[in-house]
Amino acid sequence: MFLSGIDIGGTSIKFGIFYEKLNLLQQWSRPTPKEPAEAAALIAAQLEPYHVAAIGAGAPGTLNAARETITADNLAWVDVPLAALLRRASGLPAVVINDGHAAMLAEMRSGALQNVQTGILLTLGTGIGGGIVINGQCWRSPTGLAPELGHIITHSDGLPCPCGQCGCFEQYASAPVLIRMAGGESPADLIARARSGNAAAQAVFAQYVHELCTGIVSLNSIFAPEVVALGGGISEAGDFLLDACHTTLARLHANPQPTLRLAAHRNTAGIIGGVIASLKLGVTMH
Ligand code: BGC
Repeated sequence: MFLSGIDIGGTSIKFGIFYEKLNLLQQWSRPTPKEPAEAAALIAAQLEPYHVAAIGAGAPGTLNAARETITADNLAWVDVPLAALLRRASGLPAVVINDGHAAMLAEMRSGALQNVQTGILLTLGTGIGGGIVINGQCWRSPTGLAPELGHIITHSDGLPCPCGQCGCFEQYASAPVLIRMAGGESPADLIARARSGNAAAQAVFAQYVHELCTGIVSLNSIFAPEVVALGGGISEAGDFLLDACHTTLARLHANPQPTLRLAAHRNTAGIIGGVIASLKLGVTMH
């Protein structure tokens, strides 16, 4: 019997099939349909040949635990009962969690946050997601609504966010923002130019890192995490990003200075977190 881990993203849905002890057998992706019901039908159809025991999915939005719905601004999904849609389409037990939460579960099991008592994960992608470890446990509010680390305010009366607030962290430090700051250049190209000493590219990257570290300093003041792990597309910059953040955090007087780490799971964090969540459904693997 197999289990599945699903990572629903703004452009594609990643599928993972797992066997015993969460070994990844196979993974693939398909474009994300616009309508939630179509997404659920696609997921059910893709998984059908594998006879999986359950579906565990991470999605890029805020959960409402009481109503079992998700609101994902980047997908224009409002209050969508995604778990119910998945159950109806597949006939299987299904659970939906926030994508940052999923990545966090993966990092806690075997990654940058393994054996960490107090830690933060920030996923730097289309939005900013992530999670919080307290006393070695992943912390979520009982409502499911928090943490939403991309929506802490880093600029008072700042840019409007689709969530309704103004000045949210992700309006200043997500991947699309870096692309905009770089005049449309991809983060990979910008970072390559910055690494090779181009002064203009270095200035743009430094400004981005300043915005990122502004958010980290606030989180640091609340949690004093042993580790802040950075994941998502921007973390592909590797040590170049960590070094820049260390310097900037010192300049911003972050106290204490957190240890920064790169997330260990890149493309597979979401599907691993999804399958871990599905284990809570009481399914067993044979
Ligand atoms: C959403 C979060 C999500 C994050 C990463 C944000 O825009 O509000 O729920 O975790 O993007 O996808």
